[in-house]
Amino acid sequence: MSIAELPLTSPASAGIDALRDWVDEIASLAEPAEVVWCDGSLAETDRLTKELVAEGKLIRLNPEWRPNSFLARTDPGDVARVEDRTFICSLDEDDAGPTNNWRAPAEMRSELREVFAGSMRGRTMYVVPFSMGPVGGPISQVGVQLTDSAYVAISLGTMTRVTSAVLDLIEAGQPWVATVHSVGAPLIDERGIRHDDVAWPCNETKYIVQFPETREVWSYGSGYGGNAILAKKCFALRIASVMARDEGWLAEHMLIVKITSPEGRAYHVAAAFPSACGKTNLAMLRPSIPGWRVETIGDDIAWLRPGPDGRLRAINPEAGFFGVAPGTGMNTNATAVDTLWGNTIFTNVALRDDGDVWWEGLTDQAPAHLIDWQGEDWTPESGRPAAHPNSRFTVSAAQCPSIADDWDAFDGVPIDAILFGGRRATNVPLVAQARDWKHGVFLGATISSEKTAAAEGTVGELRRDPFAMLPFCGYNMADYWGHWLGMGERLGEKAPAVFQVNWFRKGDDGSFLWPGFGENARVLEWIVRRIEGSAGAVDAPIGLLPVPEELDLAGLDLPGDHVEALFHVDRDSWLAECDLTDEFFDRFGSRVPAALRAELASLRYHLRA
Ligand code: OXD
Ligand code: MN
Repeated sequence: MSIAELPLTSPASAGIDALRDWVDEIASLAEPAEVVWCDGSLAETDRLTKELVAEGKLIRLNPEWRPNSFLARTDPGDVARVEDRTFICSLDEDDAGPTNNWRAPAEMRSELREVFAGSMRGRTMYVVPFSMGPVGGPISQVGVQLTDSAYVAISLGTMTRVTSAVLDLIEAGQPWVATVHSVGAPLIDERGIRHDDVAWPCNETKYIVQFPETREVWSYGSGYGGNAILAKKCFALRIASVMARDEGWLAEHMLIVKITSPEGRAYHVAAAFPSACGKTNLAMLRPSIPGWRVETIGDDIAWLRPGPDGRLRAINPEAGFFGVAPGTGMNTNATAVDTLWGNTIFTNVALRDDGDVWWEGLTDQAPAHLIDWQGEDWTPESGRPAAHPNSRFTVSAAQCPSIADDWDAFDGVPIDAILFGGRRATNVPLVAQARDWKHGVFLGATISSEKTAAAEGTVGELRRDPFAMLPFCGYNMADYWGHWLGMGERLGEKAPAVFQVNWFRKGDDGSFLWPGFGENARVLEWIVRRIEGSAGAVDAPIGLLPVPEELDLAGLDLPGDHVEALFHVDRDSWLAECDLTDEFFDRFGSRVPAALRAELASLRYHLRA
C-alpha cells in the first residue's frame, strides 16, 4: 500500500480485526524488520533486558546492591518532554484553545506519514497491548502502543498492565486507544545501506501528536519518558481528558493517597500539583504526627468517575512510578528510596564505582568518584551535576512499601477531598478550604507559581498552570473548566470537599516559612478534621482558613510570626493578583464560564469589603 492510501482515521473502537489491520498498515508504512506482539510476561521482560544489555543500551547494575536493575543513558538532546513539539490536532483550532499547539489534522497526518515512512527499517516493532487501571475495571481503559524501542516496551510493562487479556477485551468490542511510536532512527537508509545502532537512538526532529477526535497518539523522534511512554501523559491525560469530557468523568494530573486517622477512619484524597512540586513526596509521605498513616495509591495521574452511589471514585490508571531521582533521598522521601531496592530502570542517573547508582540528594555526601549521566568521569570538584536534573526511576507501584491495600481496587476508591497546590512564595496560604465546588474550580483554574522570586510580599509574574494540566489538557482549557463545573452540578451534595495548599510560601528574608515533607501531615490532619466536621474555620476573603489553635503545631519549632505570615492575606497584593487573573481569563475570551468570572468578582468584593 502506498503512503497516500493509508487511512486517515484511527481504527479505535473497531475490534480485533481492525487492530490487526492497523498493525499491518503501520508496519507497511514504517517497514520494521519484524513485528513482535508483547504479552508483558516476566520471561519477555527478561529476554528484552538481556538483549538491551547485549546491545549496550542498558547497563546491568551490581545485583548485590540493586538486583534486576538497569541504567540507561539517553542522548543529551533527549532528556525531557518537548512541549513545543507537542500538538493537539483537533478538527477545530478553537477546540485546542490558546494553551495548546494546534495543527490541522489532515496536514499533520501527511507530515507524519512522511517522517514515519521507513522510520523503523532494520528494527523490531513491538505491539504492546496495555490496560490503564485494573483490566476490565469500570473506570479503566485499554490501548495499544506500537514502538520500535525495546526500552519503551519494557518501561510500558512497568508503567501499565501489559497483558494479552487486553486483546480479549478488544475482541469483545471494548474501545481502545491507538498509539504509535518511533524513535525515528532507521538502521537501514533509503539506499538499503545498514548503519550501526547507537546506545540511545532518537531523531533531532520530534513530534508528540494527539488526535483527540479519533483518540490517537503519534510520537516520533524521542525515546524519553512522557514523549515515548504514550500511555502516560499522551493517553492518560491528553486523550483521556477528551474522553472524560465526552463521557462525564475526569482525567487529572493528580496523586491519590489514603489517610488513616488515629481513630482508624480512612479517607481518600486526590491532589493536583504542577510538575516539580513534590507530588511523589506527598504520595509517599511519612507523617511526623503520631497516630496518622498515609498510604500511596498513585503519584501522578487520577481518573475519577461518579460511582453507583453518586460519589466520585478514583483509580490510579498507572501501574508504576516514573519519578524524578534528584532530590529523592532518605531525608526527603525515604519511602521512595526503599521502593527502589531492585527491579528498577534508572535513566540518566550517575553510576557508582561499585556498580550501584547515585544522584544529587540521595545522600548528603557525594561519592568521591562517579561516572556521570553522560558516561564521563565525575568527582565532587567537577562543578556539574552527576545525574541529569530530570533523571528518572521507573519502578512498579506494587513494590512501594507504603502502597495501600486498595491501590488497585477494581472500582476505585471514594474520594473525600481534592487538593490544589502551586509553588507560591506570596499570597497563597498554607491551606484554605473552598467555600463550595464552584469556588474550588476557581482555585484549580488559578493554580500558579511565581516566575521570579517575589520580594517583600509583592506578586511577581505568575506562571499559570490551571489544575496542573497546562501541558496535559487535550482540549480548550476554558471548556475544561466548564466541564469541572458541570461535574459539580452532577455530584451535588456528594461532591468532595476542595482545598488549596501551598508548602512554598516565603518570608521577607526569602526563606521558606513551612518545613514541608512529613510535617505536611499537620495540614492533612486539619483537612480530615474539616471533612469530619470537627474543625472550625475562619471565613477569609480568599476561602476558609484554619482556626489558629486547631492547626496542630505541637513539637514544631515554628516562630509565631511565621504562623501568622503563612496565613496572612494582604489585600493590596491579592487585588493585584485579581488583575492578573482577569488578564489570564481574557486569553480564553468568551469561553470562560460565567461562574468563574463571578468567583473573581466575588473575591474582589470580599477583599474590598
Ligand atoms: C511528570 C511531569 O513527569 O509532570 O510527571 O512532568
Ligand atoms: Mn506529572
